[in-house]
Amino acid sequence: MDITFTISVENSKYNPKIVFIDDKIKSDNKALSVLPFYNYIQDVNIDLFKAGSGDLLFVTPKNSSAVVICGLGDPSKITPESIRNAAASAVKFCMSKKFDSVSIISPEVEGFERGDLFRYCAEGALLANYNFVKYKSMDEKEKPLSAIDFVGAFKSLESILAEVFIIAKNTWLCRDLVNDITDEVNPVKFADLAKSIFAKSNVKCRVLTKKDIEKKGMGLLLAVNRGSMVEPRVVVLEYKGDSTSKDFIGLVGKGITFDSGGMNLKPSGSMETMRSDMAGAAAVLCAMKTIAELKIKKNLYGVIPLTENMLSSNAYRPGDIYRAYNGKTVEIGNTDAEGRLILADALSYMEKELKPKCIVDLATLTGACVVTFGETVAAYLSTDESLAKSIEEAASLTGEKLWRLPFFEDYEDRMKSDVADLSNMSSEKNAGTISGAVFLKNFIEKTPWTHVDIAGTAWYSKARGYRPKNATGYGVRLLVELVKGL
Ligand code: BES
Ligand code: MG
Ligand code: ZN
Repeated sequence: MDITFTISVENSKYNPKIVFIDDKIKSDNKALSVLPFYNYIQDVNIDLFKAGSGDLLFVTPKNSSAVVICGLGDPSKITPESIRNAAASAVKFCMSKKFDSVSIISPEVEGFERGDLFRYCAEGALLANYNFVKYKSMDEKEKPLSAIDFVGAFKSLESILAEVFIIAKNTWLCRDLVNDITDEVNPVKFADLAKSIFAKSNVKCRVLTKKDIEKKGMGLLLAVNRGSMVEPRVVVLEYKGDSTSKDFIGLVGKGITFDSGGMNLKPSGSMETMRSDMAGAAAVLCAMKTIAELKIKKNLYGVIPLTENMLSSNAYRPGDIYRAYNGKTVEIGNTDAEGRLILADALSYMEKELKPKCIVDLATLTGACVVTFGETVAAYLSTDESLAKSIEEAASLTGEKLWRLPFFEDYEDRMKSDVADLSNMSSEKNAGTISGAVFLKNFIEKTPWTHVDIAGTAWYSKARGYRPKNATGYGVRLLVELVKGL
C-alpha cells in the first residue's frame, strides 16, 4: 500500500487535525493561546478534558475543521516514549474511525527541542500507522491512513521526516515478514527476497544454498533442517558505508521460519505463533536495509541462518550427535532447542570467515525469557562491557527496553554432555535464557559479543502504544541506533 507523508509549513492539508496539549497548558489560557493551532480549538470547551498522556478529545465544530486533541500529560513526566505513544493513540483513533488522511500539528513542550519533539511524534505516528491486512477483506479491517501531513515551521523538519519514514517503512516490512504465513516466508523465499531487496543497492547479498552449507560443514543447521521439505539457506550481507575503515560490525539473526519443536513436538497453544521464530532474522535484514538507505558511515556484515524446524521420519532426534561448523560436537538433548544450534553455526561462521570487530545476535531463543520479562523487555547477555553499554544507550534512545543477565562461570557446567563436547539442553531446568546464551558462548572464541533474546518482545499478544498486536518489529530501530553509536 502506498502511504504518503508530506510537510506543510503553515496551512495543513487534511482533516481532521491532530493537536497536542499537556495538562498544564490546558488550564492556562494565555499559554494556550500562543500555540500554533489555537485557532482550531479556541471555540472548544476543553474544561472537562484531562489531557492525560494519550487521552483524546474529538471535536467537530460546525464552522471549522474537525480536531483530535491529544493529551501529553504532566509536562514534567513527558518522555520520548510517552510522546510516541500519545501520537500513536491519536493515529490509531483516526484509523478506527476510518479516516483516510490527517494533519498532525507538531507539538510544543517547554524544555524540549522542537526537532526532537517532532521526531518522537512522527515516529509514534508512523510506527502506529500499520495493520497486517494482507489476508483480510479491506472493509472489515482498519486500514492504515493513506496520508499524513505534518505541520510545523522549522527547517530541519524535512530531513527528520525523511529519516523517520525510512525507519518506519523498514519496521513495517519486518512486521510483515514476521506476520506472514510460513508458505510465503520460508527459508528459500526469505533468501530470494533478500536477494531482490539488495539487488540494486549498496549492500552485497550472497546466499548459501544447501550444497554450500554442506561444503562449509554447518552440521548443526543441517541437523535442524533434516525434518523439513524446504532447503536451508544462509543469507550473508555486506555493507561498506565507511571506506576509511576496515572494521566491520557483525549482525546475526535467528531465522527459524516455523518452529514445530521437531520430535520434541510443541503442544497446542505453544505452536500457533511459531512462524514468528524468524523475528531476529527479519530484524537484521530490515536494520541492514535501513542502515544502507540512511547511508550510515559504518561497515557491516549480516549472517542470517534459515530453516524450518519440522518433524518427519528423517528429522533429527534426541540423542543424536552432530558436528558444528567450528568442529565441536553437540548432543541433541531436545530438538526444540533448535535456535541455539543454527545460531552456533552462524556465529562461528561470522567470527571465523568474516572477522568483524564485534558481533550482536537477535533471536527468539527461549520461552524462559518471556517468563522472566514478559513482552515488554528483551534479555541480553554480553561478553564485553563497552558493547553492553552501547546497546543500553541504543535501547534508551529507541524505547526498545532490554535488561542484562549474567554470564557467571557457574552456569557453564550445565551445557556439558557425557558423550559429546556440548549438549543443546541444560542439565538444570531453571534460568533457561542464560543456558541458551551459555551454549552460544561456546561458538565465539574471542570477538566481543552480545546476544539479545527477543522471544517476548518480537510478538505481542495485544497492542501496546505504537506497537501493534502480533509482530512488533522489535530490534530494527535498536540495531540501527546501535550501529550508529559503535
Ligand atoms: N522458539 C522457541 C522459543 C520461544 C518460545 C520463542 C516462546 C517465542 C515464544 C525456542 O526454539 C524453543 O522452543 N525453546 C525451548 C528451549 C528448551 C527446549 C530448552 C523453550 O524455551 O522451551
Ligand atoms: Mg524451539
Ligand atoms: Zn525456536
